[in-house]
Amino acid sequence: MSLSHFLADDQCSQQELLMLIDLAKQIKQNPANYSQVLAGKSIVMIFEKPSLRTHLSFDIGINKLGGHALYLGQQNGKLGERERVSDYAKNISCWADAIVARVFSHESILQLAEYASVPVVNALCDLYHPCQALADFVTLSENLTKLGKDELAQLKLAYVGDGNNVSQSLMLMAAILGLDFTLVCPQGCEGNAAILDKAQTLALQSGAQITVTNNIDDIGQQDVIYTDTWISMGDEDADKKAAILAKFAPYQVNHQLMAATQAKTVMHCQPAHLEEEITTELFDSEMSVAFEQAENRMWAQNAVLVSLFSN
Ligand code: NVA
Repeated sequence: MSLSHFLADDQCSQQELLMLIDLAKQIKQNPANYSQVLAGKSIVMIFEKPSLRTHLSFDIGINKLGGHALYLGQQNGKLGERERVSDYAKNISCWADAIVARVFSHESILQLAEYASVPVVNALCDLYHPCQALADFVTLSENLTKLGKDELAQLKLAYVGDGNNVSQSLMLMAAILGLDFTLVCPQGCEGNAAILDKAQTLALQSGAQITVTNNIDDIGQQDVIYTDTWISMGDEDADKKAAILAKFAPYQVNHQLMAATQAKTVMHCQPAHLEEEITTELFDSEMSVAFEQAENRMWAQNAVLVSLFSN
């Protein structure tokens, strides 16, 4: 399989996603077999927003593949302000072999991909976080036996909290892979309507069931509960914080919710805002696979990079 870019979850077929998950697990088991895939290659990482896991997992992951990673923050001005994003993409393409970008707007990802002559990887934007979702499905795939299932499509996965980039990528991948996915969020926090429609269409093809509810009591039986911050990067507004915390309080993921849904596993992309979207007790419990997810970011991203360079 070969990808030309990795921009949004719905650009991959079910077969491609299953192959990426499998490749991530193969690279994790035998990293030495892939240690020269990026030999002599340089990858520029553009970050418009803060990052711990994405920055380090790409940098260290690229190093493990024999490549060279360069971090480009905002020290030279904001993306699109000092020069056009198209010129930025064309300049970087003169020297680099790929671009990894974390941006405010998905439009910037699309422009980078349009004007760069090298592959572009979306490392989070306002709409998607596909590297996270891929790592999450690698993690679920590794935990299938513990969850009493034979394949990903048998899992019931609920995302509880704010409909955002993380929930949207997770929902799209769930829809492609054929998992039942439930989004539980306050009214008005469902996220992007076009992405929800797209997920429903993809679900018709895979046999997945996509459910959206504002009533936490309607969540039903679940195998896995996922949550993320109630306030994403770029949406911080100190004046609104108290109102947001109050609106989301009934959607906190805690031991009571795990018991009510019979879910055995809880997931979080991190950073966790403890005692907000998840309790400290649950985040630190045996049910949490947050650090498996974090580790798998690197293996999943390396699978993407190996695929991009297997052309
Ligand atoms: N939804 C969060 C994810 C952080 C990894 C954000 O965009 O800030």
